[in-house]
Amino acid sequence: MLSGESLPKIVSAIPGPQSIAMVDELARSECPAITARRARRAAETGVGQDPIVWKRAKGANIEDVDGNIYVDFTGAFAVAGIGHTHPRVVEAAQRQSEELIHAMGDVYPSEAKIRFTRRLADVAPAELTHAILGLSGASAVEAALKTAAVHTGRPGVIAFWGGYHGLSYGALGATAYRDNFRRPFMSQLNPWVTHLPYPDTYRPPFGLPPGTDPQAISQATIAHLREMLRGPASGAEMIGAILIEPIQGRGGEIEPPPGFLAALKEVCEEFGLVLIFDEIYTGFGRTGTMFACEHEGVTPDILCVGKALGGGFPLSAAIGRREVMDSWGNSSGESVHTSTFLGNPLGCAMAEAVLDVLIEEDWPRRVAQKGREVRTRLEALQARFPERIGLVRGRGLMLGLELIKDPATRAPDGALGLGIMGYCRDRGYLVLPSGQHGHVLALSPPFVITDQQWDGLFEVLEEALAHFCSA
Ligand SMILES: Cc1ncc(COP(=O)(O)O)c(C=O)c1O
Repeated sequence: MLSGESLPKIVSAIPGPQSIAMVDELARSECPAITARRARRAAETGVGQDPIVWKRAKGANIEDVDGNIYVDFTGAFAVAGIGHTHPRVVEAAQRQSEELIHAMGDVYPSEAKIRFTRRLADVAPAELTHAILGLSGASAVEAALKTAAVHTGRPGVIAFWGGYHGLSYGALGATAYRDNFRRPFMSQLNPWVTHLPYPDTYRPPFGLPPGTDPQAISQATIAHLREMLRGPASGAEMIGAILIEPIQGRGGEIEPPPGFLAALKEVCEEFGLVLIFDEIYTGFGRTGTMFACEHEGVTPDILCVGKALGGGFPLSAAIGRREVMDSWGNSSGESVHTSTFLGNPLGCAMAEAVLDVLIEEDWPRRVAQKGREVRTRLEALQARFPERIGLVRGRGLMLGLELIKDPATRAPDGALGLGIMGYCRDRGYLVLPSGQHGHVLALSPPFVITDQQWDGLFEVLEEALAHFCSA
């Protein structure tokens, strides 16, 4: 039995023989673009990255098929906010699965969906009262983009470099994380998407030098946006929405300058644009408030959520202001935006349990507090390795170490990110690199992670940095 609070226990090589055999098996029937195998990855990167195969998880622990126990500092893509297989989520899933696993989303909804949708609106910022449920982050983003197009009659979207919104066609049009994710599909993506630089204070856009005052970076970005929206030749009259992550997740835990989101909102109001916040990563306590937009006191027109919402069940939502959502008109019986599994009762019951736990156990406040402590420790680590750690990024328990080749150029060091990931994993600590170059060592653990587990990670991180930085 996994306790959820244990330190790593490594009993085989990593990956172990069972993992290797199973991944080989998987590669016989899964598209090769998806299954990472050691030989292929090693040839490309020089670093062995064969996957371990997960068997079970609890709290902050993962056990693989070879019996190795790990501590999860990824939250499995920031999904396991309140921890893996939380007992109340498991109990809700068991109860619901005995009663009703599938209903008919928009035609004959389930009791579970009705209860959950109501609860979601209660938890969301006050003005956001009406939701469209989805099955993935990408589907929530697409519901938001469709809503904005219906509301404004304009297909254009402004999104940001480094932004990650999902990979299905509609979302991929806005995603600008890596060129190779988009290139083969360019002709099928929304041609009305314009990308602006995200106002990164560490690598300022628009040719501004490192060290530029964050407010100047914010102003330059907003000035560029306004100029674009006013430019008679920019096609800006076709733009209906601005889509942004309030803190970029996969893009590298990048926070915009204070006040930037409020300035964006002003622009949206001035030009009649729908403001969409993608909080699929940041939502549900991850950054130390229920939603990251609360840090800046800015409520968007539509908020996209997913990941941690379902407690592991694929569930997402676009939650909007009434007047924006009303633009769809009333359903006359056949919904023009739906899917077979919309509002799946099992997912809704699990998500309701997640929301209960988050609120009853006061997680957002506790995450803020723990996040401050962890940041202090990360900053101490940065002070020990100033040549290779450029910055501690992020907020709450969405934190990252910006890994650089040298402080003068601030050149991102993706190889170091991958090296540290492998080093930590071999010692039982799971971390992932993020950022467009894989150069940010990202930490998005389950909130339930213990102090002892943190201590263990810091010990290994220090060792890893000493190992790679003296090499
Ligand atoms: C901010 C953000 N939006 C959207 C998505 C896409 O979500 P999904 O992979 O569930 O489609 C992600 C996934 O990482 C994300 O981080």
